[in-house]
Order: sequence, then C-alpha cells, then structure tokens
Amino acid sequence: MEDQTHTTNYEDEFDSDWYLETYYEPTLDDVDKDEFLQFTLDGLHDGFNTAHVTGGRLLDVGTGPTVHSVISGSRHVGEIYLSDYAAQNRKLLSNWWKSGARSQTGITKYVLRRENSNESVVQRQNAMREKVRGVLAVDVHLEHPIGSDDGPQYFDVVTSSLCLEVASQTILEYKKAMRNVCGLLKPGGHLILVGLCGQSYYRVGDTTFSSLPLNRHQAEEILEELGHKLLSERWIKTKDSVLSDTKGAFVIVARINKDAKI
Ligand SMILES: C[S@@+](CC[C@H](N)C(=O)[O-])C[C@H]1O[C@@H](n2cnc3c(N)ncnc32)[C@H](O)[C@@H]1O
Repeated sequence: MEDQTHTTNYEDEFDSDWYLETYYEPTLDDVDKDEFLQFTLDGLHDGFNTAHVTGGRLLDVGTGPTVHSVISGSRHVGEIYLSDYAAQNRKLLSNWWKSGARSQTGITKYVLRRENSNESVVQRQNAMREKVRGVLAVDVHLEHPIGSDDGPQYFDVVTSSLCLEVASQTILEYKKAMRNVCGLLKPGGHLILVGLCGQSYYRVGDTTFSSLPLNRHQAEEILEELGHKLLSERWIKTKDSVLSDTKGAFVIVARINKDAKI
C-alpha cells in the first residue's frame, strides 16, 4: 500500500455515504467493541469538561458527513456551526440539520450513557439541530478558513477531528493549517483536536486518501510553538486495520493565548 499514490481530491472522490456508513453508523453494541470510537467520543466528552466551556459559539472544522464530533459539545454551547471542504459532505450535513436524516443512533446512545443523561436519542438530536446555525464551506489552507461571509468570524470553541493531517501533505502545511484554524478562535477560546498518528493513507470505498503521518507529539509541539496553552493530551495505540495504516490517535485540548503568533 505504501508505494501507491493516494488521492487528495475530496470534492470528486470522497464517498460521503460509504464513509458515514462504514465508520460512524455502528450500533451501540458495536461502539462498545470499538476502542478507537470510544477513545474519540470519550475524548470529546472529557475535553468539554476540561475546557470548562459554558455557552458561546462552537465551530467544527472538517465535519465530514458525520456529526459525532458535536454531540458532547452541544450541551455546552449556544450555537453550533458545522463545516466541510467537500460539497457532498455539506449536503449530508444539511439534510441531517433540516430533516434529522442519518442521526447516528448508536453513537448518540453511547454519548448519552457516558453523560448519565435521561435524554432520548431523538431529544438530543433535536436539541443539536436546533443549535446549528450553519453548514459552512471551509479550507484550512486559507489564512481565514471560512472566508469572509456575513456570519461570525470568530468562535469560543473549535473542534476538529481527523481533518488537519489528511488535508496536509507536509509538516509545514500542517503547521500553517493549525495556525489558520487557531486563528478562528477568540483569545481565551478552546481548541479540542482529535488526530491520528503514523497514518499515510485511509480507505473510503475503493479509493485511498493520503494523510500526513504525524508522530505522537508533533501536534502538541506545534500548538506550543504557536504560543497556545496545552490543557490536556491523551493518546492510544490503534489496532491494525485493512482500512488504513494508522498507528495511534490523540485528543488535545488547548487554550488560545491572546499574544499567540497568529
Ligand atoms: C477523514 S475526514 C474526517 C471527517 C470527520 N471530521 C471525522 O472525524 O471523521 C476528513 C475531512 O476533511 C475534509 N477536508 C479535506 N481537505 C480539507 C481542507 N483543505 N480544509 C478543510 N477540510 C478539509 C474532508 O472533506 C473530509 O470531510
């Protein structure tokens, strides 16, 4: 697999339905057997508590076709913006927002159980959808990734999952993308970042997408170089899979400093 060329063409080659169905529509029983999904969902749940986020506006960067990244956050914020580079992902997100299609029941149940919540899946999904204010186009390689539309330009909390490393070909590109994404936060705002280590490709249907193989500490080091404060970091080694050559995953929570180099 290492010698093959992997694509970066999200607009034409990313199959949103396959991705959502394969990675993010398990039953609760399947989530209970999936160490990586649990790590991600627990990391997001704990990240919001670590960051003491109460109220304000959340942006999820590179949401893809899946809303798992905002289930925990929706309890803590007043407004949610979803975003993706590829139009087909934004279409699925808009369908979910407007009609509740593909509501990822197993994953939502897992998060509700983690919270000890009495809410039903339908109640939580409705509450999430009511807080959504937009599905935005985003490109992390732009200095201001969400462009200059009329909507809000700065956010209290930014989440991003498995986006920066797959959008970058080199560590320099990754650093710039991190700087651009941190620049979307208000000073004192929080970044909750889920990322992968050692991944050079991952599968979406018959297509393999390229990814930047980060080592375990690179994202933390870059955030510190940019002048931000790390609040927490956790890491797991991932199991071998036919879907990617991923070696590990991390969740980082950082607070954006006023004087950071952005
Ligand atoms: C591996 S998927 C991750 C989706 C989801 N956040 C998750 O955790 O599964 C990567 C996402 O990054 C988006 N993406 C690719 N290039 C991007 C760029 N330059 N700026 C922002 N997002 C990008 C893709 O469209 C895709 O939805």
